[in-house]
Amino acid sequence: MRIDIITVQPDLLESPFNHSILKRAKQKGLLEVNLINLRDYATNKHRTTDDYQYGGGAGMVMLCEPIAKCIDELKSERHYDEVIYMTPDGETLKQSDVNILSLKQNLIILCGHYKGIDERIRELYITKEISIGDYVLSGGELAAAILVDAIGRLLPGVLNDETSALFDSFQDGLLSPPVYTRPEEFKGLKVPDVLLSGHEKNIREWRHEKAIERTRQRRPDLLNE
Ligand code: ADE
Repeated sequence: MRIDIITVQPDLLESPFNHSILKRAKQKGLLEVNLINLRDYATNKHRTTDDYQYGGGAGMVMLCEPIAKCIDELKSERHYDEVIYMTPDGETLKQSDVNILSLKQNLIILCGHYKGIDERIRELYITKEISIGDYVLSGGELAAAILVDAIGRLLPGVLNDETSALFDSFQDGLLSPPVYTRPEEFKGLKVPDVLLSGHEKNIREWRHEKAIERTRQRRPDLLNE
Protein backbone atom coordinates (compact mmCIF):
# COMPACT_ATOMS: atom_id res chain seq x y z
CA MET A 1 0.00 0.00 0.00
CA ARG A 2 1.11 3.53 -0.75
CA ILE A 3 0.03 6.57 1.28
CA ASP A 4 0.94 10.10 0.18
CA ILE A 5 0.48 12.70 2.90
CA ILE A 6 0.22 16.34 1.88
CA THR A 7 1.23 18.66 4.71
CA VAL A 8 2.76 22.05 5.51
CA GLN A 9 4.58 20.42 8.44
CA PRO A 10 6.32 17.27 7.16
CA ASP A 11 8.79 17.36 10.10
CA LEU A 12 5.95 16.68 12.51
CA LEU A 13 5.29 13.36 10.81
CA GLU A 14 8.86 12.06 10.40
CA SER A 15 9.02 10.46 13.83
CA PRO A 16 5.75 8.47 13.98
CA PHE A 17 6.50 6.82 10.63
CA ASN A 18 10.05 5.92 11.52
CA HIS A 19 9.27 3.97 14.66
CA SER A 20 7.72 0.71 15.79
CA ILE A 21 5.05 -0.96 13.71
CA LEU A 22 5.01 1.56 10.90
CA LYS A 23 8.76 1.38 10.58
CA ARG A 24 8.54 -2.40 10.34
CA ALA A 25 5.77 -2.15 7.73
CA LYS A 26 7.97 0.15 5.65
CA GLN A 27 11.07 -2.04 6.04
CA LYS A 28 9.13 -5.10 4.95
CA GLY A 29 7.94 -3.21 1.87
CA LEU A 30 4.29 -3.54 2.93
CA LEU A 31 3.68 0.18 3.32
CA GLU A 32 5.18 3.19 1.59
CA VAL A 33 4.49 6.55 3.22
CA ASN A 34 5.54 9.70 1.38
CA LEU A 35 5.50 13.08 3.08
CA ILE A 36 4.85 15.82 0.56
CA ASN A 37 5.58 19.41 1.53
CA LEU A 38 2.72 21.53 0.23
CA ARG A 39 5.02 24.57 0.15
CA ASP A 40 6.84 22.97 -2.78
CA TYR A 41 3.64 23.52 -4.77
CA ALA A 42 3.14 27.16 -3.80
CA THR A 43 2.78 29.40 -6.80
CA ASN A 44 4.48 32.53 -5.44
CA LYS A 45 8.05 33.20 -4.38
CA HIS A 46 7.15 33.41 -0.67
CA ARG A 47 5.87 29.82 -0.88
CA THR A 48 2.54 30.90 0.60
CA THR A 49 -0.07 28.21 1.13
CA ASP A 50 -2.80 30.23 2.87
CA ASP A 51 -4.60 33.57 2.67
CA TYR A 52 -7.30 35.66 4.42
CA GLN A 53 -10.85 34.45 4.09
CA TYR A 54 -13.42 36.21 1.91
CA GLY A 55 -16.06 37.91 4.03
CA GLY A 56 -13.55 38.72 6.76
CA GLY A 57 -12.98 37.05 10.11
CA ALA A 58 -10.06 35.59 11.99
CA GLY A 59 -8.04 32.70 10.64
CA MET A 60 -6.37 31.90 7.37
CA VAL A 61 -7.66 29.51 4.73
CA MET A 62 -5.46 27.12 2.74
CA LEU A 63 -5.23 28.19 -0.90
CA CYS A 64 -6.72 26.17 -3.76
CA GLU A 65 -3.84 26.33 -6.22
CA PRO A 66 -1.00 24.59 -4.31
CA ILE A 67 -3.31 21.77 -3.19
CA ALA A 68 -4.79 21.31 -6.68
CA LYS A 69 -1.34 21.35 -8.29
CA CYS A 70 -0.02 18.78 -5.84
CA ILE A 71 -2.99 16.39 -6.15
CA ASP A 72 -3.08 16.75 -9.96
CA GLU A 73 0.59 15.83 -10.15
CA LEU A 74 0.12 12.76 -7.92
CA LYS A 75 -2.94 11.65 -9.86
CA SER A 76 -1.06 11.95 -13.16
CA GLU A 77 1.33 9.27 -11.86
CA ARG A 78 -1.12 6.67 -10.51
CA HIS A 79 -4.72 6.01 -9.62
CA TYR A 80 -5.81 6.84 -6.04
CA ASP A 81 -8.61 4.97 -4.29
CA GLU A 82 -9.38 7.88 -1.97
CA VAL A 83 -8.33 11.48 -1.43
CA ILE A 84 -8.86 11.93 2.29
CA TYR A 85 -9.07 15.25 4.11
CA MET A 86 -8.43 15.21 7.88
CA THR A 87 -10.86 17.66 9.47
CA PRO A 88 -12.84 17.94 12.72
CA ASP A 89 -16.07 18.27 10.72
CA GLY A 90 -15.47 14.98 8.86
CA GLU A 91 -17.05 11.62 9.64
CA THR A 92 -15.78 10.22 12.94
CA LEU A 93 -13.30 7.40 12.30
CA LYS A 94 -14.39 3.89 13.29
CA GLN A 95 -12.58 0.54 13.14
CA SER A 96 -14.87 -0.56 10.29
CA ASP A 97 -13.65 2.43 8.21
CA VAL A 98 -10.04 1.53 8.98
CA ASN A 99 -10.65 -2.08 7.92
CA ILE A 100 -11.98 -0.91 4.55
CA LEU A 101 -9.14 1.58 3.99
CA SER A 102 -6.54 -1.11 4.79
CA LEU A 103 -7.65 -2.97 1.65
CA LYS A 104 -6.87 -0.05 -0.69
CA GLN A 105 -3.78 0.35 -2.87
CA ASN A 106 -3.08 4.10 -3.01
CA LEU A 107 -4.33 6.84 -0.71
CA ILE A 108 -3.77 10.58 -0.50
CA ILE A 109 -4.21 12.21 2.91
CA LEU A 110 -4.45 15.99 3.04
CA CYS A 111 -3.76 17.65 6.40
CA GLY A 112 -5.67 20.84 7.07
CA HIS A 113 -4.41 23.84 9.02
CA TYR A 114 -5.78 27.13 10.35
CA LYS A 115 -9.43 27.59 9.33
CA GLY A 116 -9.15 24.69 6.90
CA ILE A 117 -9.07 24.45 3.12
CA ASP A 118 -10.99 26.38 0.48
CA GLU A 119 -14.39 24.73 0.05
CA ARG A 120 -13.82 24.28 -3.70
CA ILE A 121 -11.00 21.79 -3.02
CA ARG A 122 -13.42 19.78 -0.91
CA GLU A 123 -15.93 19.81 -3.75
CA LEU A 124 -13.49 19.03 -6.55
CA TYR A 125 -10.87 16.74 -5.08
CA ILE A 126 -11.77 15.25 -1.70
CA THR A 127 -13.53 11.87 -1.69
CA LYS A 128 -13.57 11.26 2.07
CA GLU A 129 -13.47 13.58 5.10
CA ILE A 130 -12.31 12.04 8.37
CA SER A 131 -12.32 13.31 11.95
CA ILE A 132 -10.57 11.39 14.73
CA GLY A 133 -12.91 12.78 17.39
CA ASP A 134 -14.94 15.73 18.63
CA TYR A 135 -12.05 18.03 19.51
CA VAL A 136 -9.97 20.43 17.45
CA LEU A 137 -6.25 19.84 16.85
CA SER A 138 -3.91 22.55 15.60
CA GLY A 139 -3.55 20.69 12.31
CA GLY A 140 -4.46 17.44 10.60
CA GLU A 141 -0.96 15.91 10.91
CA LEU A 142 -1.43 14.08 14.20
CA ALA A 143 -4.84 12.90 13.03
CA ALA A 144 -3.21 11.57 9.83
CA ALA A 145 -0.56 9.77 11.91
CA ILE A 146 -3.33 8.07 13.89
CA LEU A 147 -5.15 7.03 10.73
CA VAL A 148 -1.98 5.63 9.11
CA ASP A 149 -1.04 3.76 12.31
CA ALA A 150 -4.49 2.17 12.49
CA ILE A 151 -4.32 1.16 8.80
CA GLY A 152 -0.66 0.05 8.86
CA ARG A 153 -1.08 -2.48 11.66
CA LEU A 154 -3.84 -4.25 9.71
CA LEU A 155 -1.72 -4.90 6.62
CA PRO A 156 -1.03 -8.65 6.39
CA GLY A 157 2.48 -9.42 7.64
CA VAL A 158 2.93 -6.23 9.67
CA LEU A 159 2.03 -7.63 13.08
CA ASN A 160 4.19 -10.54 14.25
CA ASP A 161 1.20 -12.43 15.58
CA GLU A 162 -0.76 -12.58 12.33
CA THR A 163 -4.10 -13.10 13.98
CA SER A 164 -3.89 -10.64 16.82
CA ALA A 165 -5.49 -7.66 15.05
CA LEU A 166 -8.61 -9.76 14.62
CA PHE A 167 -9.05 -9.88 18.38
CA ASP A 168 -8.68 -6.15 19.01
CA SER A 169 -11.29 -4.13 20.78
CA PHE A 170 -13.98 -3.11 18.26
CA GLN A 171 -13.19 -5.85 15.69
CA ASP A 172 -16.19 -7.86 16.88
CA GLY A 173 -18.10 -4.78 18.00
CA LEU A 174 -17.01 -5.37 21.62
CA LEU A 175 -14.30 -3.97 23.87
CA SER A 176 -11.48 -6.38 24.74
CA PRO A 177 -11.68 -8.48 27.91
CA PRO A 178 -9.13 -7.93 30.73
CA VAL A 179 -5.68 -9.48 30.17
CA TYR A 180 -3.04 -10.69 32.66
CA THR A 181 0.60 -11.75 32.64
CA ARG A 182 3.04 -12.87 35.33
CA PRO A 183 3.03 -12.92 38.35
CA GLU A 184 -0.03 -14.99 39.27
CA GLU A 185 -0.56 -12.77 42.31
CA PHE A 186 0.25 -9.05 42.50
CA LYS A 187 -0.38 -6.96 45.63
CA GLY A 188 -3.04 -9.42 46.77
CA LEU A 189 -4.82 -9.51 43.38
CA LYS A 190 -4.93 -12.93 41.70
CA VAL A 191 -5.21 -13.86 38.04
CA PRO A 192 -8.69 -15.42 37.53
CA ASP A 193 -8.48 -19.21 37.98
CA VAL A 194 -10.05 -19.94 34.61
CA LEU A 195 -7.06 -18.37 32.79
CA LEU A 196 -4.71 -20.74 34.62
CA SER A 197 -6.89 -23.79 33.99
CA GLY A 198 -5.67 -24.56 30.48
CA HIS A 199 -9.32 -25.27 29.55
CA GLU A 200 -9.63 -23.57 26.14
CA LYS A 201 -13.42 -23.60 25.86
CA ASN A 202 -13.92 -22.16 29.34
CA ILE A 203 -11.29 -19.49 28.68
CA ARG A 204 -12.96 -18.54 25.40
CA GLU A 205 -16.37 -18.28 27.12
CA TRP A 206 -14.97 -16.30 30.06
CA ARG A 207 -13.30 -13.81 27.69
CA HIS A 208 -16.49 -13.37 25.70
CA GLU A 209 -18.54 -12.79 28.87
CA LYS A 210 -16.04 -10.25 30.17
CA ALA A 211 -15.96 -8.47 26.80
CA ILE A 212 -19.75 -8.11 26.90
CA GLU A 213 -19.69 -7.00 30.55
CA ARG A 214 -17.03 -4.37 29.88
CA THR A 215 -18.79 -3.11 26.75
CA ARG A 216 -22.11 -2.86 28.64
CA GLN A 217 -20.42 -0.83 31.41
CA ARG A 218 -18.26 1.46 29.29
CA ARG A 219 -19.75 1.62 25.80
CA PRO A 220 -23.40 0.52 25.93
CA ASP A 221 -23.86 2.35 22.60
CA LEU A 222 -21.91 -0.49 20.91
CA LEU A 223 -24.44 -3.11 21.99
CA ASN A 224 -27.66 -3.16 19.98
CA GLU A 225 -29.73 -4.24 22.98
N1 ADE B 1 -7.78 18.52 12.31
C1 ADE B 1 -8.04 19.26 13.42
N2 ADE B 1 -8.78 18.58 14.30
C2 ADE B 1 -9.01 17.35 13.74
C3 ADE B 1 -9.74 16.20 14.16
N3 ADE B 1 -10.38 16.15 15.32
N4 ADE B 1 -9.77 15.15 13.32
C4 ADE B 1 -9.14 15.20 12.13
N5 ADE B 1 -8.44 16.25 11.68
C5 ADE B 1 -8.39 17.32 12.48
